[in-house]
Amino acid sequence: MPLDSRPYVKKLHIKTYGCQMNVYDSAKMADVLAPLGYSQVETPDGADLVILNTCHIREKAAEKVFSELGRLKPLKDANGTLLAVAGCVAQAEGEAILARAPYVDVVLGPQAYHRLPELVARATRGAGAALDTDFPVESKFDHLPAPGANQGVAAFLTVQEGCDKFCTFCVVPYTRGAEFSRDVAAIEREARALVANGVGEITLLGQNVNAFHGVDEAGNELGLGALARRLARIEGLHRIRYTTSHPRDMDDDLIAAHADTPELMPFLHLPVQSGSDRLLEAMNRGHTAQAYLDLIAKLRKARPDIALSSDFIVGFPGETEAEFEATLDLIREVKFAQSFSFKYSPRPGTPAALLDKQIPEAVQDERLYKLQALLREQQDAFNAATVGAIVPVLYERAGRNAGQLIGKTPWLQAVHAQLPDDAAGKVLPTRILASGANSLSGVVHDQTQERLSA
Ligand code: 5AD
Ligand code: SF4
Repeated sequence: MPLDSRPYVKKLHIKTYGCQMNVYDSAKMADVLAPLGYSQVETPDGADLVILNTCHIREKAAEKVFSELGRLKPLKDANGTLLAVAGCVAQAEGEAILARAPYVDVVLGPQAYHRLPELVARATRGAGAALDTDFPVESKFDHLPAPGANQGVAAFLTVQEGCDKFCTFCVVPYTRGAEFSRDVAAIEREARALVANGVGEITLLGQNVNAFHGVDEAGNELGLGALARRLARIEGLHRIRYTTSHPRDMDDDLIAAHADTPELMPFLHLPVQSGSDRLLEAMNRGHTAQAYLDLIAKLRKARPDIALSSDFIVGFPGETEAEFEATLDLIREVKFAQSFSFKYSPRPGTPAALLDKQIPEAVQDERLYKLQALLREQQDAFNAATVGAIVPVLYERAGRNAGQLIGKTPWLQAVHAQLPDDAAGKVLPTRILASGANSLSGVVHDQTQERLSA
């Protein structure tokens, strides 16, 4: 028997691109590989297996994968590192990846993570590249292990996947497939396991999360509002968020949940993409700019302090200057706390890629610059407005400087404050002292001191 009989620990490096769903999927891939002796490392150097969990949403995101694969090839040549491409590029390009980068060992789509051990074993045996981009009828969720320890304080939980909306610019309905909601009991089990591991905030994930319609133990269908109310009963779960929502699925019960469920945080990412009715129609968004504004008014009535964020696309085919201005007008009217904005990127296989009047890059650049300047202004104003206020901050982890913790306000603003490590996981009233470009600084508000000095 060897002196050291510990099992050989294999090193796994996962690089995640794109959305929070991929972050969640990467954690699940690490969980399914753990029983095979894989433990995660920070860099690809010396790793036995490198997984690129990829994003296909825009061309730039997809191209990054091939340049990263090129960088990893020498590592494979030198150490025999196994290379796997997972996620949406794998789903969309499948065989084409193996044609372009034949040294890749495993290609697997987002519905095949539970088969990862089998695919990796095949590749290890040298049985050739393993490819799995099927949409199996069985749910991968039935095969995934419960969340491991060390989840941190804020965790993601996928409740819904896929999209049936078919916005004309978007690849998601093709890469992630049709809408699917998990069963309520399974979601609650996963949420309870997370909370038992020290998680205090759960973000419910779905490509179209507010289209959620899961079935409970009694066979009743629950919408997202009802799910949030049910999860809010879990002892120790302080905060619930959800992303990403579609304006068309924002039903009255979910809006009511924002009024009656304090655990549901007053922050909503509700992409609108454009403020022009003609473009909203061409994008197949299924609503007008006014319908979006009416929805925001309803939400603000239910939860007056709700903050909003959105996604915007500039330079969609045929976008005129006036249509672009309509987007700026909508932004001025809503006032967003933060937002994401992108130049339109034609994606193969989507209807918009075939439209005439693609907008030149220089015009797209100019519009994006203008739009982002306005959004930045609004974000700064939103953050500056919290200076001086006392807000509940859920502290999550150590900050960059010694003795510092980073946490979040209900409105998803990062806050750093001087605090001992054991304050992580607690919600503490914090006076906001200053607002920087990307975070706020604060000091925990000592109520006893205030009373003494009063
Ligand atoms: N080009 C640019 N942006 C896109 N998005 C989705 N598809 C495209 C595309 N083809 C943006 C949308 C979406 C976000 C996740 O990515 O704004 O809400
Ligand atoms: Fe893509 Fe539209 Fe579905 Fe969002 S709603 S994932 S933008 S098709």
